[in-house]
Amino acid sequence: MAIVTTTASNRHPNLAINLASYDRQMISQRKVASPSWEPSSTDGVDTLGGVDGLLVYGNAAKLYCLTRIAELAAARETLAVVDLGCGAGTNFVELLRRWPNVRYMGVDPDLEACTRARENLAGLEATIIHAPAYGLELGPADVVASFSVLEHVYNRSAYLECAAASLVSDGVAFVNYDAGHFVAGSSRDRVKTLVGGVLARAGRERWYQSFVAEEQFRRLVARAELRIVEAKFFNTATLKELYGKLPPESRDRFMQEWLEFELGLNDLGLAYEDALAPLLRTRNFVLART
Ligand SMILES: C[S@@+](CC[C@H](N)C(=O)[O-])C[C@H]1O[C@@H](n2cnc3c(N)ncnc32)[C@H](O)[C@@H]1O
Repeated sequence: MAIVTTTASNRHPNLAINLASYDRQMISQRKVASPSWEPSSTDGVDTLGGVDGLLVYGNAAKLYCLTRIAELAAARETLAVVDLGCGAGTNFVELLRRWPNVRYMGVDPDLEACTRARENLAGLEATIIHAPAYGLELGPADVVASFSVLEHVYNRSAYLECAAASLVSDGVAFVNYDAGHFVAGSSRDRVKTLVGGVLARAGRERWYQSFVAEEQFRRLVARAELRIVEAKFFNTATLKELYGKLPPESRDRFMQEWLEFELGLNDLGLAYEDALAPLLRTRNFVLART
């Protein structure tokens, strides 16, 4: 199954480099298992038809981040990854399976999620810690990942400080959160936001969720002594919903075209603001230490 199509590569050269190098590395690993792989060479490589699917499905932001993490794994002997709010750990199953040089640590305050993560990642290079990501130094990590978590975090300042404290000095954090869910959401969601806030103030954070305002995020990033290296948006309204309607055989192609489209959209000069969150649903940042 192919990861890169020629037409897609032509449309977005940056992504083409990312996905192509990731793809070639996967093939190269299968074929020669050599750590000294050269990105510019595809000699001796099988056809793309022998490669398994993408790293993740149904979410363009996660596919983008995981592809970039896979690129880092390709370039290093080992890569330490800390996943804040790992949930059931499913985002990293494929990445860990394909990149045995990645050492993964997932952290989550939900006991059931931790149990599922341990099951899902059994046999892979993974450690799961049952705790909220507050006041911890979990690294030293080359990469901190936080996917779809910040909108559920009550103490966002402590959480981002934990991300910063867990990173090596030249590490990077891939942080995305759902910016559209709470403004475009159902009445059920609005009730959850209200009740979750009351419970969190009473010390029970489990059900907390609230919109992450752009200005708040930028302020907390600076307070945590992090800086924004890259800011993008993904999961544009309707494309994410359309994914769920596709026949299974079209999903790989859709994911590639979708990610290409989103990256192209980011290059068109559309300035993200909170009012656009119902359309540009996922905010995605790459952060580094100051
Ligand atoms: C929507 S799930 C996302 C899980 C996973 N990252 C994914 O993308 O599938 C949000 C997760 O954030 C976790 N979470 C909430 N508050 C947290 C905190 N303070 N520290 C770490 N994780 C937290 C929840 O327990 C939950 O598993």
